[in-house]
Amino acid sequence: MPNPGSFADTVKQQADIVRIVGGYVRLKKTGAQNFSGLCPFHKEKTPSFSVHEVRQFYHCFGCGASGDVFSFVQKIENITFLEAVRGVAEKLGIQAPRQAFSPEEAREAQARGALLEMQERACVFFEQQLRRPEGAQAREYLASRGLSQETIREFRMGYAPDSGFMLRDLFRGAEEELLRQSGLFSWKETEPFEQPDSNEEQRKPPRSALYAKFRGRIMFPICHDGGKVIAFTGRRLSNEEKAGPKYLNSPETAIYSKSRVLFNLDKAKEHIRALGYAILVEGQMDCISVYTADFKNVIATSGTAFTEPQVRLLARHSRNVVVNFDPDAAGAAAAERSLALLVEEDFQIKVLTLEPGLDPDLFIRRRGRQAYADALRSAPQYFGYLVERARALHPPRSPENKLRAANFLLPHLNRVPNRIVRDELAADVAQKLGIDSVVLRQELRRAAAARSSTVKAAAQPALTESEKILIRALHPATAEGGDVARHLAEAIEAESLHRGLAGEALIQAALTGNDAELSEADHARLAAILMRDDEPLTTELLQSALNALRVIRLERTKRELAGRIVEAERRQDQSSLLALVQEKQRIDRELHAAGQ
Ligand code: UTP
Ligand code: MN
Repeated sequence: MPNPGSFADTVKQQADIVRIVGGYVRLKKTGAQNFSGLCPFHKEKTPSFSVHEVRQFYHCFGCGASGDVFSFVQKIENITFLEAVRGVAEKLGIQAPRQAFSPEEAREAQARGALLEMQERACVFFEQQLRRPEGAQAREYLASRGLSQETIREFRMGYAPDSGFMLRDLFRGAEEELLRQSGLFSWKETEPFEQPDSNEEQRKPPRSALYAKFRGRIMFPICHDGGKVIAFTGRRLSNEEKAGPKYLNSPETAIYSKSRVLFNLDKAKEHIRALGYAILVEGQMDCISVYTADFKNVIATSGTAFTEPQVRLLARHSRNVVVNFDPDAAGAAAAERSLALLVEEDFQIKVLTLEPGLDPDLFIRRRGRQAYADALRSAPQYFGYLVERARALHPPRSPENKLRAANFLLPHLNRVPNRIVRDELAADVAQKLGIDSVVLRQELRRAAAARSSTVKAAAQPALTESEKILIRALHPATAEGGDVARHLAEAIEAESLHRGLAGEALIQAALTGNDAELSEADHARLAAILMRDDEPLTTELLQSALNALRVIRLERTKRELAGRIVEAERRQDQSSLLALVQEKQRIDRELHAAGQ
């Protein structure tokens, strides 16, 4: 609670929590003074987050988060109280007096403010440069990519001139440290007075070695979801490699972290809410094309796989997304990684795959907006897409490939948070891959169902290769062992070779043909074993696996005997000692015979 009469209090009096929160969370009026929506602080499907208009207070009945407008902004933006006060004040157009902050806070806030201001000034500068004669080539390039004046203005595209010094001149008088922190400049540590651009003879080298990071590039401002410019990405004009990377990004700064920003979210967010879903593309140009074709709920990851903070950011506006990555191998891989994160955050996902060779930008320009709208409408649910990928990678014509395809899908299945959904998907996978062994099918479903225990299984003692081989041989699902398996079963049972092993329960279940008593973790392990496509179970392999179990047993007995010998020596119990030593010698001989 801000102190009465303080600046924070003044701001709070004027702020409307419903409007501020409404900027982050879609709220519905649910009572005379109440609004509710999906809580941005925990995962949920039914709204338990409510905002009280009169009491200017929010509370989540799901996770217990509650507080006033500042605590909300603080929490959702992950900033300090004073930054939240300042942020809300700014939204309301209230000027903050300097003494409203501690000296340190004030300095930090001021530095961030200064950095923001610099990005804005740079943005205007780049926009102006695009209109100047020097920007002719850049204008041509943009026109050749079908971008109208209106789009250029709306996205505030600009041009960074070849000169390394014009931008430096723009910030004449600013502290050098601030310039370095802005991400707009480069410098050479070792040769501070070297002039980077030798084609600028008429100009004297400035005293500082700072020069513009972006030169001869089309500039796209990157905005935070509130719409302020926080960084840039610059595309090289030519296709020549020597002009540097195709896209160059601002480095991480105090106001910009690549993994926390979604390109175009500032413009797209209201459309994402209104339409109830987002379109996710890889590149800025894709994003701009799709947006211009009037699909305004589009955002871009800017070439990398989705990150968790980005997923959270998007989740504030909608949990429905159509992923439309490039139809190349890199795009498919990026899509799969992004899907994984989205699935874990409970998103409803569709995957839109366009014709080979056409990214969303090219597709829209060549095939038109109607074709894109049609493609969007018929985009399959992500799991259907993954099953198709699995079938394409491992055509399920042979049992081996069926297992490979199932193994490709299993990690994706395991990520689905809801058990019932997982189970249904597993049944669906089995059917689509033509896995008709009832048991295998069951195992696939069990593996999917036992998701949480699959993770735990890693912490359990590991099964030896031999145990796995024997389980495969004995389990009725595979019946790979044949006649030899019967002999194996008899030997294992007669000598109780499985007692005390990590795989004891699994071997027991395989022997009796009854999986019902197995723990979830063991079901998961069993599935993993049966899913693996391994070398064929030859008689030699089985014999050596059985032998290995005997060795394990002998070694354990030997360790026990060694302990008892030490004990007998301590007690000076000569008669026991003799018997024990003889017993140990017998074990040693057996081990030797077993080749150990
Ligand atoms: P692409 O190579 O698919 O480029 O990279 P694009 O989006 O089709 O770009 P245009 O159409 O040739 O202009 C996809 C995204 O990866 C990032 C960019 O965000 C780009 O939009 N990227 C690409 C980089 O960050 N650096 C690069 O050098 C290349
Ligand atoms: Mn492209």
